Amino acid sequence: MAARPDPVREPEAPLPAPPRAFIEATGLVKRLGGHAVLDGASIRLLVGETLAILGRSGEGKSVLLKHLAGLMNPDSGSVRIDGEEIVGIDERRLGPVRRKFGLLFQNGALFDSFDVEENVAFPLVELGLRDPVVIRQRVLAALEAVGMAEHRHKMPVHLSGGQRKRVALARAIITQPRCLLYDEPTAGLDPIGTANIDRLIRGFQQRFQVTSLVITHDLKTVERIADRVAFLRAGRVHFLGTPAEFFTTGDPVLRQFLDGRPDEGETA
Ligand SMILES: Nc1ncnc2c1ncn2[C@@H]1O[C@H](COP(=O)(O)OP(=O)(O)OP(=O)(O)O)[C@@H](O)[C@H]1O
Ligand SMILES: [Mg+2]
Repeated sequence: MAARPDPVREPEAPLPAPPRAFIEATGLVKRLGGHAVLDGASIRLLVGETLAILGRSGEGKSVLLKHLAGLMNPDSGSVRIDGEEIVGIDERRLGPVRRKFGLLFQNGALFDSFDVEENVAFPLVELGLRDPVVIRQRVLAALEAVGMAEHRHKMPVHLSGGQRKRVALARAIITQPRCLLYDEPTAGLDPIGTANIDRLIRGFQQRFQVTSLVITHDLKTVERIADRVAFLRAGRVHFLGTPAEFFTTGDPVLRQFLDGRPDEGETA
């Protein structure tokens, strides 16, 4: 009997590599003031993506961000940065982990006694850079990127809210971090200021392939910059999906948020 020929086999197409997580947080629990602000929150931030985090005020977005950057320790759960577990490691080893991030805090958090240039230079000085010429060049480049170079000798008290945000942004990017974490980068800005900051955030991501997480309440910002959206509720990620899925969801909690409807029973 003739041997049956081998069935023709398609050459196996290489499987696409699964997306790598820059941050992988699992089962985070954090009690603050007698209340579980995080109650089993899990989230993955994929390399190169921009993830928007939404949720009502007080739901724990800022607390979550601080856990992801190694600035707060959970009661339980795991946070892996670039594959390395950071929960429970000692403070000395946390330094290099924190330096992987550029952070824009919710309140801008500029040093009031430093001028704009000194504020933006601060992370470089902390990194150990000493050459004033190099520092000045890099500070100027960062300030130019956010359109604040002409204000470099001002004190923070003499800046508008939007200008402070831009200086804080320059400070967040000055070390060219692989990951940027933004807490409400556009809160309090006019629509044009918001569009400008959104364009900067998108630009950093596209030019330098930085991984970005943006906490925001601004739905326009989500449309403009997000690859994925997470919605935080009751200490967990209630929704995770694309912006298209988010905006067309039928989930009643998300619909109330998206449509800006008041809570039940809150009548005038
Ligand atoms: N250090 C702390 N000690 C006690 N409670 C805290 C602390 N930090 C945050 N909280 C509480 O945790 C909850 C979540 O706060 P968080 O700042 O993360 O909210 P948020 O979602 O960022 O809100 P917003 O949109 O208003 O910025 C709040 O009830 C807050 O009072
Ligand atoms: Mg907050």
